[in-house]
Amino acid sequence: MTDPADADTLRERALTTLTTARARTTLLTSCVEDPDLTAQHSPLMSPLVWDLAHISNQEEQWLLRTVAGREAIRPEIDGIYDAFEHPRAARPSLPLLPPSEARNYAAEVRGRVMDILESTAFHGTRLTEAGFAFGMIAQHEQQHDETMLITHQLRKGPQALTAPDPDPVPLFTGPSEVLVPGGPFTMGTSTEPWALDNERPAHRREVPAFYMDVTPVTNAAYQAFIADGGYDTERWWTPEGWAHIRQHSIHAPLFWRRDGKQWLRRRFGVTEVVPPDEPVLHVCWYEADAYARWAGRRLPTEAEWEKAARHDPAGDRSTRYPWGDADPAPEHANLGQRHLRPAPAGSYPEGESPLGVRQLIGDVWEWTASDFLPYPGFQAFPYKEYSEVFFGPEHKVLRGGAFAVDAVACRGTFRNWDYPIRRQIFSGFRTARSAADA
Ligand code: AVJ
Ligand code: FE
Repeated sequence: MTDPADADTLRERALTTLTTARARTTLLTSCVEDPDLTAQHSPLMSPLVWDLAHISNQEEQWLLRTVAGREAIRPEIDGIYDAFEHPRAARPSLPLLPPSEARNYAAEVRGRVMDILESTAFHGTRLTEAGFAFGMIAQHEQQHDETMLITHQLRKGPQALTAPDPDPVPLFTGPSEVLVPGGPFTMGTSTEPWALDNERPAHRREVPAFYMDVTPVTNAAYQAFIADGGYDTERWWTPEGWAHIRQHSIHAPLFWRRDGKQWLRRRFGVTEVVPPDEPVLHVCWYEADAYARWAGRRLPTEAEWEKAARHDPAGDRSTRYPWGDADPAPEHANLGQRHLRPAPAGSYPEGESPLGVRQLIGDVWEWTASDFLPYPGFQAFPYKEYSEVFFGPEHKVLRGGAFAVDAVACRGTFRNWDYPIRRQIFSGFRTARSAADA
């Protein structure tokens, strides 16, 4: 049971994270006019106004109805905002709440949630223990804020969002890889109060010695792969990856275009030269895997990634983050959409792991070699449709979060997943090699 002092801290954290999420949601849904909220900008994405009401419908279902036992405010809309009833491509033809009604519904739900936050005990049931349901809903809203940022990136038309760039840093000249010693480490968590079901339980994993890239793969390195004919050389690709890039005529990361000798990219409505020292973004798993093979390396497994991020050889225990147990601060990592791009490779020295691996958290989601599978002892909670229905070889795991991800939805244990063809997401990668191959 959570002790009362911790409960006060967690209640404060619930309030702050819900408020931060709502500020972000409001920005993402007020920086364009209503027609851009109701339009579908890509068949891969929902109209922004669907995300807006879906966020509040989930909040109502879990916090007001399940935790507080309240009556449904608008029971007739549940089906419209059930992600499993309607695939994204079909959502524009649903009778969606228009933007003003969606905003009113969101405000109504949030007002009532503020009323119950004070009176809800942070113990008693698994859903309320340590305020889990509030943390889950703050994370859910932030996950959709990331989804909505992807929609903004896919949207054609002029720039609607701006943010300052990350601070420039000198070109990174440190070692390109570090040795992560072999042996068991603790993967996953049983103690992090707001960790989601797929991060649980903590368990020991044997991970043989391997070398891990110190930074994510940069645009310059990726351009060398392109220039070397990487997209035209079948042997770098898995059969599925080769078939996919041929069929869809893929020759570069999504949003890139060749301009004479240089590469340009479109980023939130602005066309710019691809910056050489930034981590590569918008590549699919097949591209990451092919690059790694071309480089004489491979993608890290999910366990390798987590060991590099959490294992402290001095203490033989797993920390919450690469830098230790402290919650993320701006000096640790590029998170929370405060910048709308990754920071140059080698940024955030204060965020590095004990072994010296940088930018594991923030900047770009990192593809791993691993399928999305349950940990030993996994139990779906509080609903099977968050993780369990997605387990299997069709989804690959991504780790570490991106500039688009808020700290509440990012941890050393946090697991994301997607199809290996997806690249509208904020995905990059780093590479590894087994020490035994040295
Ligand atoms: C964990 C990012 C794969 O967006 O499909 C949002 C998060 N789950 N609403 C997704 C999620 C339910 C999920 N990912
Ligand atoms: Fe959702």
